[in-house]
Amino acid sequence: MTAEYDFGMIGLGTMGRNLLYNMNDHGFSVSGFDKDTKQVDTLIKESVGKKIYGTSVLKDFIDSLKQPRAIVMLVPAGKIVDSVIEEVKPFLSKDDLLIDLGNSHFTDTDRRNEQLRKENIHFMGAGVSGGESGARFGPSIMPGGAKEAYDRVADMLKAVSAKVNGEPCVTYIGPGSAGHYVKMVHNGIEYAIMQLIAEAYHLLKEIGGLNNDELHETFAKWNKGILQSFLIEITADIFAQQDDLTKKRLVDMILDAAQQKGTGAWTSEDAMEQQVPIPAIDIAVSMRDLSSYKKEREAAEKILKGINIENKENKDVLIAELEQALYFSMITTYAQGLSLLSIASEKYKYGLKLEEIAAIWRGGCIIRAALLESIRAAYAKEPSLSTILLDESIAQKLDQSQSGVRKTIQQGIENGIPLPVMSVSLAYYDSYRRGWLPSNLLQAQRDYFGAHTYQRIDREGIFHTRWNSNVQ
Ligand code: 6PG
Repeated sequence: MTAEYDFGMIGLGTMGRNLLYNMNDHGFSVSGFDKDTKQVDTLIKESVGKKIYGTSVLKDFIDSLKQPRAIVMLVPAGKIVDSVIEEVKPFLSKDDLLIDLGNSHFTDTDRRNEQLRKENIHFMGAGVSGGESGARFGPSIMPGGAKEAYDRVADMLKAVSAKVNGEPCVTYIGPGSAGHYVKMVHNGIEYAIMQLIAEAYHLLKEIGGLNNDELHETFAKWNKGILQSFLIEITADIFAQQDDLTKKRLVDMILDAAQQKGTGAWTSEDAMEQQVPIPAIDIAVSMRDLSSYKKEREAAEKILKGINIENKENKDVLIAELEQALYFSMITTYAQGLSLLSIASEKYKYGLKLEEIAAIWRGGCIIRAALLESIRAAYAKEPSLSTILLDESIAQKLDQSQSGVRKTIQQGIENGIPLPVMSVSLAYYDSYRRGWLPSNLLQAQRDYFGAHTYQRIDREGIFHTRWNSNVQ
């Protein structure tokens, strides 16, 4: 076996194979490894005549790579990443580079970085977004780790990534686990936007009485306007998809119990830890959880009363208000995710450049949206912006769309349709924009029952009161 391939790929599932073909399309020769011989056979069958090699023999795979080696891993996150690293390690030499492209938890990436550094093996944790077709034709890539390691593979990553106006959707994110952290928050935002779209569907279906063709048309139309984004686009397609088994619309045949692999919850957990409010993401995770209690919900439906739903006479008004409501909520969702990144960047010393992150999210990834152009512009104007809500042009967009979100939420309340992420998006905005919040009362209560003390508005110091001694 001669060492003639530019890159190695471990994990030849659909994602791994697609990315490997993408690399090959851009002139890189790639060697693929998978223990599963079926996956290797598929690779070999699909790549006749191309400079691609496939094997399930680890030694052959390693020997096929030019040195120092650069090996990409696309295997399921968790223990499998550790076992792949353990298996491959004995075959590696000093300065070889391993790149984990899976959705690994950032603390695992820190641990692996630390361990492999001691063994003179370079390691990078990089987030990749865009699903199977992104991997094949251009994902958004969020690489973290040592800058020197990134520089070694930057040309390849730029070549395979999505492009927006010729700009590649990849940039060096930062040291250590920065890449996987940013991908985690990307996914948290993804959860919230998906839930927002689901809420819009609920409202349109039950108050608007829209059928699937009308839903398809509405989302397709929205995708040509301010809401233009990948998730709105695929939602339009989903309503048009027929079920091969029943010839009905497939969406109506899918069980309403959402699953998850954890990245949304990880985002919430770390935000709680750092005391950064990201309620849209927290509630999106809770709603997936609540949806999975299908049997309980069905039982509750027979007992708990709601309110009769009135079909909205003017569907066009409902749709127009909802478009504004989604726009408003999406802006505040990005704001929450990006604020978390800004604080995490300090805490974990990632040195994140939020302008660049907004830029690489404009293409290839699941949360790509026209709106990210304005978000990028906000950070370009003021790189240290604590929240995009304070950017003049974003504040104007929120102001223009707030009447839509208020009216839409009212529709939901009056008709018993839950709009949790939309509602919390507005509540987040209404809280953030107030110089005074009623938290003085919380402090008083804490001091009353637990002597937890409070601060005053008129003088420095820490105070405690014996509350019921002077009650009048
Ligand atoms: C992406 C996606 C991808 C994956 C999600 C699904 O950016 O390409 O986010 O990473 O599809 O992690 O997550 P759940 O299974 O948790 O919905």
